[in-house]
Amino acid sequence: MNQGTCLQDLPVDLQPERLPQHVAVIMDGNGRWAKKRSLPRIMGHRRGVEALKDLLRCCKDWGIEALTAYAFSSENWGRPLEEVNFLMTLFERVLRQELQEMVSEDVQIRFVGNLSSLPLSLQSEIKQSMETTRQNQGIKFTVATNYGGRQEIVQACREIATQVQKGLLKPEDIDESLFENYLYTAGISHPDLLIRTSGEMRISNFLLWQMAYSEIYVTDTFWPDFNRSEFHRALSAYQKRERRFGKV
Ligand code: FPP
Repeated sequence: MNQGTCLQDLPVDLQPERLPQHVAVIMDGNGRWAKKRSLPRIMGHRRGVEALKDLLRCCKDWGIEALTAYAFSSENWGRPLEEVNFLMTLFERVLRQELQEMVSEDVQIRFVGNLSSLPLSLQSEIKQSMETTRQNQGIKFTVATNYGGRQEIVQACREIATQVQKGLLKPEDIDESLFENYLYTAGISHPDLLIRTSGEMRISNFLLWQMAYSEIYVTDTFWPDFNRSEFHRALSAYQKRERRFGKV
């Protein structure tokens, strides 16, 4: 955590020096949230965007350095076409609408995943938002879109193998830190805390390499209802954990 940061409204029971530096979220339960209210699933995704914006603001206020959100997995293409199209259009619209605020709030946005299969108009918004905020020094906000952890590891292996084939790398040069440079998340710290909403106890192909030692917090709350007090609860639980990283 940045010393000297003004931690706006940090609950008094949270210890600023023991906050996670990087929080990752699996935003599950949008569909169930909508169904419970007899609304179409897309309404759940709309409200989900609001919950994500609030969490980003909260992380910034409380001095958390990085937030990564799983917006669309490589398996999500299997959803009804109408829902997939809605999500793609939603991502594009939100990016366009929020870019100026991200600039003024000093957010650095980055997208990770197989971006080349996304609609071209979305790819262009993504490129623009990453280029515009590249120099920003505030919170690092990463959005995993068309992301799959296994696929990320396989593409890293393929790139490394190509370098070896060209004679630019030797097999003995390959170690964990070199490998990380070939992941989409190169340069981003590993998540300290993974939050998953709506009760499922899975990591669903999210950041498989990066979450080797992340603490996992699961809440039954559906994503659109995940608010500051829910986040406070997750952080309190995190601060009670003892992180040993495999040691005694
Ligand atoms: C999971 O709920 C949610 C998603 C697959 C989409 C999440 C996307 C957002 C909240 C929008 C993020 C926007 C930007 C710009 C990053 P679900 O549909 O699987 O819910 P269910 O399990 O109840 O069916």
